[in-house]
Amino acid sequence: MRRRAVMSLCGTGGPVRRVEVMTAAIAAESLGPELVRLLAENQLPTADLPVSPAHFFTARADGHLLGLVGLEPRGDGALLRSLAVARAARGLGIGTGLVRHAERAAASANLRAVYLLTTTAGEFFAALGYEPLPRSDAPTGIASTAEFSSLCPDTSAFMYKKL
Ligand SMILES: CC(C)(COP(=O)(O)OP(=O)(O)OC[C@H]1O[C@@H](n2cnc3c(N)ncnc32)[C@H](O)[C@@H]1OP(=O)(O)O)[C@@H](O)C(=O)NCCC(=O)NCCS
Repeated sequence: MRRRAVMSLCGTGGPVRRVEVMTAAIAAESLGPELVRLLAENQLPTADLPVSPAHFFTARADGHLLGLVGLEPRGDGALLRSLAVARAARGLGIGTGLVRHAERAAASANLRAVYLLTTTAGEFFAALGYEPLPRSDAPTGIASTAEFSSLCPDTSAFMYKKL
């Protein structure tokens, strides 16, 4: 995504004009403290990062971290996880851009569907074409992820989208 956005970010002191999703994927075990902090601030799981096969994409403007999303391939699908946008940068399309980028990456890897769990953003994902799915219908690979089996509460909505 290359998207023009004008906003003021806390601490940067000036307007930020260009938001870019960095196309180079970052391995879960290599996420720096700034990225882990953004997840923790949004109550998103971090406990499994050292052993997760997920890779992450970030959105930045003028070097400032605005958001990230993770994609954890499992079988012929992937778990979309760890979507977070910095509070000061919300409502500008960055979350949507990150999801779209992750979907394109999954499709390029010949994955057939993207799955996710959410307690906070069901309507956001529904607007992007995700549909609810009973947990019992989760493919084995997705059901075996730490997010699915232990880290996300049972009350999380389980959703998917065919690519
Ligand atoms: C959910 C989140 C990633 C959205 O990021 P964002 O950059 O603000 O999203 P966008 O600007 O692309 O929003 C697109 C639309 O979704 C709506 N939206 C944003 N967050 C939403 C939410 N949590 N629930 C429902 N709708 C939401 C926006 O209002 C906007 O609607 P509009 O097009 O009618 O104006 C961001 O709010 C966030 O980081 N939340 C905390 C962490 C979280 O809940 N992550 C999801 C875990 S699975």
